[in-house]
Amino acid sequence: MSSTVRTFESAQAACEAGAEWVTRQIGEAVAARGRAVAGLATGRTPIALYEALVARHKWGELSFRDVVTYNLDEYYPISPLDPNSYHAYMNQHLFAHVDLPANRAHVLDGTVPEAFADEHCAAFDRWIAADGGLDFQLLGLGRNGHIGFNEPCDLDVEAMLALPTRIIPLHPVTTADAAADFGGNVDQVPRRALTMGVAPIVAARAILVLAFGRNKADAVAAALKGPITSNLPGSLLQSVSSKVTWFLDAESASAL
Ligand code: F6R
Repeated sequence: MSSTVRTFESAQAACEAGAEWVTRQIGEAVAARGRAVAGLATGRTPIALYEALVARHKWGELSFRDVVTYNLDEYYPISPLDPNSYHAYMNQHLFAHVDLPANRAHVLDGTVPEAFADEHCAAFDRWIAADGGLDFQLLGLGRNGHIGFNEPCDLDVEAMLALPTRIIPLHPVTTADAAADFGGNVDQVPRRALTMGVAPIVAARAILVLAFGRNKADAVAAALKGPITSNLPGSLLQSVSSKVTWFLDAESASAL
């Protein structure tokens, strides 16, 4: 069975549909198990989706009371108070505006001492497992095909699919794309990050990938139509395609 792919007239329309998808996932998981365990993404792509979720919350249509969240990644090293941290991003775009209990919002800690980074990442995977695994995971797609900060590499596919949460060096395409957020200066972008592994991502019970704009078209086409390869981490989603949904706009779908 192949992935579900929907192409929308605009990124905004895709994000509104994405908010509806998330609302449904939360409702179904809470009805089935009493809570929803959500994997969240940052970056430019899902900002309008979070706006739509906040609007639904304000209208009384969506509560995060029974939600637990795990974010995909965080720069390393970085303070949660740094406006470029993903902690700050999540507070700005979602956490400060909804009724998610503060102790249930998990973002990898960019201040953990380096000697404890492996332990912290391993604990993050154990927390997800202790919460019963992710009910759903939101993903963006890097221009180089990364998911989370699982960057292109030469691992064999089986080893890549088993990767846990860990500290990684960022790929040059990733730091180049992040430079705009760091005053246009690539030297200000942290060289490393903590990322949720491929293993917990592909184990999520449902996955929604959002990708918008012409500069994502080649990565989208390779992820959906190319061979499954660690050189294009998004292609690994083909190995769990029956639970993967892609929401695209016309530009990002243009090479399909
Ligand atoms: C963010 C993340 C990354 C981004 C990707 C696309 O938490 O894990 O994989 O989803 O780099 O970033 P944007 O949306 O800024 O194009």
